[in-house]
Amino acid sequence: MKKSSKEIRDLFISFWKEEPRNSKEIPSSSLVPQNDSTLLFVNSGMFPLVPYLNGIPHPLGKRIHNIQRCVRTNDIDEVGDNRHLVMFEMIGNWSLGDFDKTNQIPWIMEFFVEKCGLDPFRIFVSVFAGDESAPKDDTAIETWKKVFAKYGIKAEYSDNISKLPKPWNPEEGVPEELKNWKYRIFPYSKKKNWWSRAEVPGEIGGPTSEIFYDMGRVELIQDVYHINDDSGRFIEIGNNVFMEYKLDQEMKWVPLEQKNIDFGGGLERIVLACQNISDPYKTDLFQNIIFKTETLAGKKYELSKSLNLNLEVKSFRVLAEHIRSSVFLLGDGVTPSNKDQGYILRRLIRRMIRHAHLLKIQDNFTKSLANVVIDDYADAYPHLSENREKILEEIEKEEIRFRKTLENGLNNINKLFQKVSQNSQHDISPEHIITKNLDTIYELNGKKLNLGEWAFYFYETYGFPPEMFLEELSSFVNKVSLENYKQAYVKIDDQLVSTIIEKFKYLSEQHRINSKASAEKKFLGGLADTSDETTKLHTAHHLLLAAIQKLLNKDIKQRGSNITSQRLRMDFNFDRKLTQDEIEAIENLVNQKIEESLPVFRLEMPKVEAEKLRAQMEFGQRYPEIVSVYIIGNIKLDKEKYQISEIIEQYDKVFSIEFCAGPHVSNTSKLSEGGKKFKVFEHVSIGANLKRIKAGLISVSK
Ligand code: ALA
Repeated sequence: MKKSSKEIRDLFISFWKEEPRNSKEIPSSSLVPQNDSTLLFVNSGMFPLVPYLNGIPHPLGKRIHNIQRCVRTNDIDEVGDNRHLVMFEMIGNWSLGDFDKTNQIPWIMEFFVEKCGLDPFRIFVSVFAGDESAPKDDTAIETWKKVFAKYGIKAEYSDNISKLPKPWNPEEGVPEELKNWKYRIFPYSKKKNWWSRAEVPGEIGGPTSEIFYDMGRVELIQDVYHINDDSGRFIEIGNNVFMEYKLDQEMKWVPLEQKNIDFGGGLERIVLACQNISDPYKTDLFQNIIFKTETLAGKKYELSKSLNLNLEVKSFRVLAEHIRSSVFLLGDGVTPSNKDQGYILRRLIRRMIRHAHLLKIQDNFTKSLANVVIDDYADAYPHLSENREKILEEIEKEEIRFRKTLENGLNNINKLFQKVSQNSQHDISPEHIITKNLDTIYELNGKKLNLGEWAFYFYETYGFPPEMFLEELSSFVNKVSLENYKQAYVKIDDQLVSTIIEKFKYLSEQHRINSKASAEKKFLGGLADTSDETTKLHTAHHLLLAAIQKLLNKDIKQRGSNITSQRLRMDFNFDRKLTQDEIEAIENLVNQKIEESLPVFRLEMPKVEAEKLRAQMEFGQRYPEIVSVYIIGNIKLDKEKYQISEIIEQYDKVFSIEFCAGPHVSNTSKLSEGGKKFKVFEHVSIGANLKRIKAGLISVSK
């Protein structure tokens, strides 16, 4: 008998309570982190337990377990395929300095095989390969061999991670080759088999051993196959983290005094494995939501070879996933807004409404779908039904707000994309849309803007989040390709995507600064306008502060600033006036950095991370939870996916790093355009410990 999700939930909770484990169940925490602002959402079961993993005694003892609601936002735009979810539930168990991996591995395997009824022949595992932080995990390898042996499998370890049996058809049952397959334990490096929430000093983490279930069929063709690839054949059903390390100030992993186990497994995937189906939306976790959507749309949720129907499948899934995530976020007190958690919720609700429109669901529907979610989860999450009225009221409010502008926005966005597809600057081929000129201007209703500016316009005017603008662009391009080439699944060129998003971010930052400025009758950071000259001086200002710190004293702080298109002014703490030689040395260093043509990076990150990077902030300024940080230096960084540690490793190449709303030039070489050089105009003392410099960029005759 296949287990229902409710049975799996109950089995997990009771399994850990039983002898010899004697673990205590702890409650599922709010999705909104309490007393921890490093991340927007609780993204794993261990999140609320960080203090206890660090050694503070837990009131319920050293063995605890629960099912924790989690949200991960990196892949929102991927939702609609059969793999990505925003909200999920994590079954988790912890040993807080108590039992070790030689207990954890047999117990978790016992749960999967003997309680959930998973087939041990279909199980494969990974272990940490070893590096400078920790050795190869021989204990895990030996423990796994014994555990497999208990289920009649003579498992072996192989360095060659692609030593796998052939894919097989799940409808035809487990093939002999799989039953006899020896190689089931594979090593992976830190990239895959080391877990921590983030890479910042003080963070805890450790090597992992993950458990995979063979679903038989490959969903996505790959060059090389292994258990931890993206082919969809193997799903990860559990992750044992041997949380025994901590990052020190030098970003080195050092041993933690308390050796912990942190196990987490995605409930949705375990249910999928137990129910032996490849589509999570067909499990009982989503069935009622899908049924209700079928009634609302007057259509069936059916996978089909026809492309149109598959697009509908995507919309069904987006609705099912996003309604569930939205209800859980609303249940934890998040309301739709333009920032932080509220913005994520807004994106989810708006994307869902857009897809409901594609399914031709005309009436307001979010309330009736939300009711299904609340009822389905009434037992496991009673706080949802307790907050039913509030959840329904908020979700409907957002739906009404967005539906008002949706139709008009879609008409206009379509007109705009017609122009994009007719424009010879673009090449829409079956593989991708590429742009020959990223700044191409498109005219619509008398407005002339480039695509990034249009993304901002659609957000401001119709409430389309920029990600939705891109999704619309992508489906438009696919439609064109289908008509012209009989082929869809066209990708938008990455460079085009990042140009649009960068421009959007820049404009919204400007908008934020300007509206804040007009509200407060002052300009943030003294930035009075966004002309080219002022922007250059803003970057010069960062170079100046860094030069003063490097040449005079690293503890000097900025105490005030003001920038016009003519000059910059900076006040800073210092106990005496500078000498003429010192001023010249400062000018020379700034000019040297301009000549070095250093790139200027803008990164967004939580304030605490920026503080850990020791980014400069103005004394006495208050900054929001998510800040933008500007880095000037010859470093290598992928702005879309970087780790804080990568910046720290390149500190010697960083000249300046500051909290700042911007805007800035993209490279310091822009400051010397027209043969200009940086020059200090005036230096005065304005207090015992306060000095002022006025400076600017002036033309120098050669
Ligand atoms: N904390 C571990 C994870 O999220 C278990 O994978």
